[in-house]
Amino acid sequence: MPFALPPPAPRAVTRRALLAAAVALPALASGRGPVRLRFSHVVAPDTPKGRMALHFQALVHERAGDRLRVEVHPDSQLWGDDDEIEALRLGAVEMLAPSLSKFGMAGVPEFEVFDLPYLFSEAAQVRRVTEGPVGQALLRRLERQQMLGLGFLDNGLKHMSAQRPLRRVADFAGLRVRVQASRVIEAQWRALGAQPVVLPFAETRRALASGVVNATENPLSNFLTQGLASVQPQLTLTGHGYLGYAVVTNPRFWASLPMADQRLLTDALRAALAQGNRWAAQLNRDALLALQQQTGVAVHQPSEAERDGLRRALRGVSQMVERGPQGQWLKDVRAVLLAK
Ligand code: LMR
Repeated sequence: MPFALPPPAPRAVTRRALLAAAVALPALASGRGPVRLRFSHVVAPDTPKGRMALHFQALVHERAGDRLRVEVHPDSQLWGDDDEIEALRLGAVEMLAPSLSKFGMAGVPEFEVFDLPYLFSEAAQVRRVTEGPVGQALLRRLERQQMLGLGFLDNGLKHMSAQRPLRRVADFAGLRVRVQASRVIEAQWRALGAQPVVLPFAETRRALASGVVNATENPLSNFLTQGLASVQPQLTLTGHGYLGYAVVTNPRFWASLPMADQRLLTDALRAALAQGNRWAAQLNRDALLALQQQTGVAVHQPSEAERDGLRRALRGVSQMVERGPQGQWLKDVRAVLLAK
């Protein structure tokens, strides 16, 4: 089945972001008193991203005392998927770590290559891409959209959930699936015969509970900490895609910091990201146990033949990216994966 990517939707500047930006301008480092660095994210504190942000906060405090004050705002409490990147551009927050899937609609479609189903089979493969020249080139692309990319963080492989097991293509018929705003992810679900519905992360549980959508995908740490087990009784360990993050800051804010502070923050973040990657693998393993032991969710492991069936159904999505404007990026990523 042929797929075509629609052009990125223009993002509305929210009133809330504009207002907040007006009061946020003093956040630029002025040499007068402590610098406040608000780090906003959409997930729970006890997730790879949540823990990494708190670790970064602790490291900066240890090294700079009150001079550089990192404030962590989890759970979409400060900004959510709809407005966080806009808020960063406007100076209403200093640091974010959106999932890689969310940069496409923010004008950096190269990042949607990471959403390709079955491109990666483990986070370590992604690391080879993000830690090499391709990862660095991707971070530089963010500058075109008024973001400064500071590094990558894993969550892990995504799995699918619904009111029924999702083993064969026929199981997907009629599903309405909550997805992140990524055209590759939308194409993935359409290829399986389901209808993707873009919703902010913070609204996912409620939308599943009310029946607005009846399926979703995420790594297990997010599935557990969002309480999705109570609204999605069947979890299939498809491991079909990767979910990770890029940490970004506002370039004007960054340029306003003395070099020594930029170095301190860069070093603290590097250490926090390395630790965050170690936690990510562990948290996702722990989440599987917790889901099996503490919730009533039924966990299904598709057979090799079932996996192959899904993979075959999704081939058109790879072809769509190969032939589209991000084809060269996909080639570059594949070259890293093939190199020994
Ligand atoms: C989602 O929106 O499903 C995830 O990207 C949330 C996150 O940041 O892990």
